[in-house]
This record gives sequence, C-alpha cells and structure tokens, in this order.
Amino acid sequence: MLQSTDALAKIDAVTPCRYGAPAVLVVTFDGNNVFTYPGGKRDSGVEDASIVATHMILAAADEGVDSCWINFFDPEKLAAELGLPENEEILMALDLGYAAEGAGPLGNHNSRKPLKETVTYM
Ligand SMILES: Cc1cc2nc3c(=O)[nH]c(=O)nc-3n(C[C@H](O)[C@H](O)[C@H](O)COP(=O)(O)O)c2cc1C
Repeated sequence: MLQSTDALAKIDAVTPCRYGAPAVLVVTFDGNNVFTYPGGKRDSGVEDASIVATHMILAAADEGVDSCWINFFDPEKLAAELGLPENEEILMALDLGYAAEGAGPLGNHNSRKPLKETVTYM
C-alpha cells in the first residue's frame, strides 16, 4: 500500500494514471509460489491475483471508496522503483480515493454487445 509522499512519487514516476488518489495498492504475486495446472503450460498467478484485485475493488466500493484499476505502466520499472524481489510479479496498481464531483463512467460504459456476438452456444 503506497500512501506516503515518497511512495506515491514512485507511482507517479511510472504512470500518469494516479489521478490524485491518496492511496495506491500494488497487487503482486510470488511467481515462485503459484499453482501450475496439469501439463505445466500455465499457472494461476495472474488469475488468482486478479480475483483478489477484483474483490478489493468491490470491498472498497462497499465502504464508499472509489478505485481505478491501472495497468498503464511498465511493471519492471515499478518493481525497480519499489525494490521488489525478482520473484514478486506485479499484476496491477489500484488507485483508491474519492472520485471528483461530476466524474462518471465513459460514454460506452453501459453499452452491451448482443449475446450472440460474445457467446458461442454449442
Ligand atoms: C485490465 C484493466 C486495466 C486498466 N488500466 C487502466 C489504466 O492503466 N489507466 C486508467 O486510467 N484506467 C484503467 N482501467 C480502468 C478503465 O479505464 C475503466 O475506468 C474501468 O474499466 C471502468 O470502466 P468500464 O466499466 O466502462 O470499463 C483499466 C481497467 C481494466 C479492466
């Protein structure tokens, strides 16, 4: 959790997407401690951390705190800024705070494609 002026400057050094948030969570996972699926071709690191991040967004919203998922940065640069060990892989950063008055979702936030364009029924 990055909250100090120094720590927030590390985020600002790698992305323009903090938008003045007073706290930013950086979600990482231990690349040496992930579940590898049978066949050994993929592991659950990214999806497990994504589930955690998504639930943090929902929990924050439950507390009345707004958030924004940030991927617009070079994870290697952020890892260097934060001094993370090599095995610690960054999934995302999560701005936490209160949206500016009048802020709202993008225009296409509520537009939905017809299911037949996104679902294949077999
Ligand atoms: C995987 C992912 C990465 C994102 N990365 C960024 C980002 O780097 N900067 C940003 O301002 N918003 C980012 N967002 C947030 C989106 O811009 C948008 O605010 C969010 O998806 C909610 O709007 P929507 O429901 O209309 O998509 C990201 C969202 C997702 C799902």
